[in-house]
Amino acid sequence: MTPLKLMVVEIAQLTPSIKKFVFAAANDDALPGWEAGAHLVFELPNGLHNAYSLANDPAERGRYVTAILREAGGKGGSIYMHDDIKVGDVLKVTGPQNNFPIEAAAKKHLLIAGGIGITPLLAMGYRLREMKADYHLHYCSKTAAETAFIDEVKAVFGAHVTFHHDGGDPSKGINLKEVLKSPDAGQNLYFCGPVGLLNAVRDASSHWPEGTVHFELFGSTRSAAEIAALAHEAGDDTFEVECVKSGITVSVPPNKSIMQVLWEHNIEVLYACEEGWCGNCKVGLISGKVDHRDEYLSEKERESAIQVCISRAAPGEKKIVLDI
Ligand code: FES
Repeated sequence: MTPLKLMVVEIAQLTPSIKKFVFAAANDDALPGWEAGAHLVFELPNGLHNAYSLANDPAERGRYVTAILREAGGKGGSIYMHDDIKVGDVLKVTGPQNNFPIEAAAKKHLLIAGGIGITPLLAMGYRLREMKADYHLHYCSKTAAETAFIDEVKAVFGAHVTFHHDGGDPSKGINLKEVLKSPDAGQNLYFCGPVGLLNAVRDASSHWPEGTVHFELFGSTRSAAEIAALAHEAGDDTFEVECVKSGITVSVPPNKSIMQVLWEHNIEVLYACEEGWCGNCKVGLISGKVDHRDEYLSEKERESAIQVCISRAAPGEKKIVLDI
């Protein structure tokens, strides 16, 4: 994917910790089209790669809008965006890429946003309204003042939104058991938000039919120590990766990821988290047994795909074949 150059044309403080960023093309090129649920991967000048979902109407062609939560405990990407980026700056970006699309065959759509997780779901609201679909959003946040895009959400969703303000106490927030109790035939669920709410939504929707529940992760559900252990597990073997499209076979040693070795051979892979949760480094799997260490792919998807930032050949498997 050829990177885009985007210029920051507007920055607005939406809540005490969330800023909205509006981008336009930095040259005369038209911006690539996109669909609701898509995100951009930003190559920040401080070396970090961060993925941010698009929040505006996908029918708009002249600008991209996203919102970013300033995370003091993060890797520094969001702090950089909040503190250093200003109007007029030009950023290198890859995408738009969509790992979180609206399910076209669904008869009903239930959306749950937690905090900053509203960004892709707001874009979905524009699209579902245009489709005249049957949809409803539950939007969870601490207070009205900490609810990003609150006026825009009201305008786009109208009667199709319920706000849940818990004041910081989840026991006073959305009643997930009730909301997710009885999925209607053909209903699909889309969730985006923080890990605690994600796990609660997962638990409360575990009885929904396979393939009807969709998540966009904004962070790992694992601890830093667990991720580090997975990235280089003691006892990992060297194995080969045959790259069919590139026509080469590479060797992956225990101390490197498949993605790192692909980079060394100038094979481009889109990435952001490097921890197995964002979905960006997904590559088609043609053959070979894989030790899937990501938390992004479903069991079904694992039959034909691999997250190359973290997953490896299964123990004893000498070679896997990838569609790259
Ligand atoms: S880079 Fe995020 S899953 Fe691999």
